[in-house]
Amino acid sequence: MEISGVNSIRGEINIPGDKSISHRAAIISALASNQINIKNFLLSQDCINTLNILKKLGVKIEKNNSNVIIHGLGIQNFIEPDDILYVGNSGTTIRLLSGVLCAAKITAVLSGDKSINNRPMDRIIFPLKDMGANIYGRNNNSKAPIIILPSYKLKGRIFNIPISSAQVKSCIILAGLFAEGVTEIIQPEVSRDHTERLLEYFGVEIKYDGKNTKVFSLFESNLKGEIKGKNLYIPGDLSSATYFIVASCILPNSSIIMKNIGINPTRSKVLDILQLMGANIEIKNKKVINNELVADIESFTSNLKAIKVDKNLIPIIIDEIPALCVASVFADGETIIEGAEELRHKESDRINSIYNEFLKAGVDIKQKKDGLIIKGNKDFKPNGGIYESYKDHRIAMSLAILGLKSNNKIRILDSECIETSFPGFLFELKKVLN
Ligand code: S3P
Repeated sequence: MEISGVNSIRGEINIPGDKSISHRAAIISALASNQINIKNFLLSQDCINTLNILKKLGVKIEKNNSNVIIHGLGIQNFIEPDDILYVGNSGTTIRLLSGVLCAAKITAVLSGDKSINNRPMDRIIFPLKDMGANIYGRNNNSKAPIIILPSYKLKGRIFNIPISSAQVKSCIILAGLFAEGVTEIIQPEVSRDHTERLLEYFGVEIKYDGKNTKVFSLFESNLKGEIKGKNLYIPGDLSSATYFIVASCILPNSSIIMKNIGINPTRSKVLDILQLMGANIEIKNKKVINNELVADIESFTSNLKAIKVDKNLIPIIIDEIPALCVASVFADGETIIEGAEELRHKESDRINSIYNEFLKAGVDIKQKKDGLIIKGNKDFKPNGGIYESYKDHRIAMSLAILGLKSNNKIRILDSECIETSFPGFLFELKKVLN
């Protein structure tokens, strides 16, 4: 991808469906006993990998543009796949489906690309083993490929998770649905709660309150083991919208509007942080759609100032940090991000990726073990040249937004990785360029 400096962006941008909610909608609908129509499903590479795996497990799926129909099969009817289940680059796919497969009484092997097979999986393998699952991973049960064998009966447990993670929490919740008794997960900080909201919407007995989640056995509840799903609409992905919000703030004479974006409170802190930095953002037409808060977002050219990001918020802004770093390059003063070591375990080591490429751009940036310090100013002009995406979609999109402020051309390598979460990113960007 090649990006050159632009004067401004103006207009409406279509933000595709939320990635986290699309994965959950597909997986949880597959566990139901009825047909569920999902509108605005994100057909990005990560979510397609989830759909392909569900098909290999016997689930019938129909696709028509962004409308997806899942014919719920129920876990007891999943078939043993005759091949490995390939998750590609998707952490949500491997972690959530591991929880489900431990309860499915089949043998299955989950594997992914180079990045996935080097990301930590002990954080799901050990809790699942504690519940009685027959699950193993490479490298002393810490890495994928993961192999799951049938297990006799899972048991509900109480887990104190040391690092807040919605993927780990959701993995345990999904196994907990099919375990005996109650499964409780306690995390040090709040993480996104889409799994809880969707299960609740489908009538499952689940209690959640910030850092604590309690799920009750599906077999022991009045649902008697059967989930009855409802049709769904997936809100636009706020993480994807953030790139354009930042672009409109840092460019002169800019204004954009994006409709029906998910602003679930466990995701929307990035908007509060940008507003604290001085971003001119308006949130309109709030409504609740299938248990998720949705709104239209407008954003405009802004005078940004630096911020020290509250460490406690890191888990709920983790995916937006690369875009926030771009904003901080054009924010007067020193932006400090700490307590964010988790960034090193994403699709790439994002602290390192941001540090290396921003340094190339001429940004005044320091790297710490758990964060970044960026000194910004509104007149900064990034250097042209060739930039690495590290095959990480969020790094590629952040560099593209940074490039909009350059006086020279920037070339981003392996930018096709953007398909992981935002097919049509470049099309939408070109649409609003002036
Ligand atoms: C996600 C949770 C987060 C996030 C990821 C999607 C999810 O990961 O970074 O992009 O859908 O649950 P962690 O659970 O590892 O924090």
